Amino acid sequence: MTVIDILDIAPFEDELPGDFADRLGTDYTARVTKGHKKQNGQFFTPTAIARFMGGLAGSPKERVRILDPGCGTAILTCALVEKLTGGAENLRAIDVTAYETDQEILPYTERAFEYLKAWLKSRSIELVYKIISKDFILENARVFEDGHTISLFDRPQQEQFDYIISNPPYFKLSKEDPRTKVSGSGAEEDVINIFRNWNHRLRDYGIEISTGPVVAFRARKFIRERFENGKVVLAPLYWLHNVIKMSIEWPVHKIGKGQYIEICDASEPVLIPNRNYVLLRRFSAKDDKSRLIAAPYFVNPNEPDYIGVENKLNYIYRPKGELERSEAVGLAALLNSKLFDTYFRTFNGNVNVSATELREIPLPPLETIKEIGNRIIQDNDFAESKVGATVAEFFNPEEITSV
Ligand SMILES: C[S@@+](CC[C@H](N)C(=O)[O-])C[C@H]1O[C@@H](n2cnc3c(N)ncnc32)[C@H](O)[C@@H]1O
Repeated sequence: MTVIDILDIAPFEDELPGDFADRLGTDYTARVTKGHKKQNGQFFTPTAIARFMGGLAGSPKERVRILDPGCGTAILTCALVEKLTGGAENLRAIDVTAYETDQEILPYTERAFEYLKAWLKSRSIELVYKIISKDFILENARVFEDGHTISLFDRPQQEQFDYIISNPPYFKLSKEDPRTKVSGSGAEEDVINIFRNWNHRLRDYGIEISTGPVVAFRARKFIRERFENGKVVLAPLYWLHNVIKMSIEWPVHKIGKGQYIEICDASEPVLIPNRNYVLLRRFSAKDDKSRLIAAPYFVNPNEPDYIGVENKLNYIYRPKGELERSEAVGLAALLNSKLFDTYFRTFNGNVNVSATELREIPLPPLETIKEIGNRIIQDNDFAESKVGATVAEFFNPEEITSV
């Protein structure tokens, strides 16, 4: 195959870059063997899925940087750019870094980017692109090796990406492959395999996750720094800083983060019934060792009928019925575990922990969750290391301790 061969493929008038990239992919597929595609883990994303993925992007800044690892014919970048340009009047410049190891496809990649550049130019947006024909994993080994304390989103300012879009190649790497040796990738594969065997989600167990309904600035008139006896009925108000792994520390006084909320008709819509929950932070700090920080919350019959959960926390509950103590402890233990943290990081590159993502996270059988919970309750030891060791006992220890 030569570059001349593909010069036959030209974009149609006003063709969307994603459609052109798709046609380039089809043409390329017709010219290489199935074995070649398989060897490169090459399955191209259909346009509808590429556009769905691109459609998830938020509004762009004036200048954006995109990373497309394993770009193929750049259909994902094209779909993302189509979305970013739709109605964004302030967007002026796009900078794309794309990685692709297959030398055979590179002329197609180049073609796709050239058309994208022309398409953007006609919309007064500048495109600067760089196709790196090197192995993405090996080139970025530092990021993977650093125990995930740095990510592709938080590199030095000039190297940061605003969007990373990818359909990674799927193939099993041999133990000798240098990419396996990049710390984490082999262990991650083991972890992903554990989750692949789990077919249940929270909803299958009648469990739901929601975001804390108390938005501090709107509920200010109900929030109190101190307990006031007699005059008003106060409930505990839980904030992000009250939740640490496996335990809730309350009250912890901090300026502007009152630990009580008034129970009255006007505040009732933002309060939740005092029942068993798992409280989970919605944000982690960049230097937190773990993304998921969860604690079981147990109802205390001596406390008021309601509690307040601030908006930077999520809470897990059973809408019809009560979360059993063993379920609350088991779920919190799993969420705090190295196993879940590793899995979560395989698809979430930032510090946010959304309820939507957690609704979709695969879970082991409910019986296992309860068993883990019961074991921790019986041991009566909620220390992070002890809880982590208990979770590890339930799954192949080699797979988890190597993470
Ligand atoms: C699953 S395909 C996806 C292609 C394209 N992004 C899409 O969505 O249609 C993965 C692409 O990554 C390339 N690739 C495989 N391993 C790679 C690596 N280690 N570094 C960079 N590219 C790689 C393959 O050649 C292939 O074109």
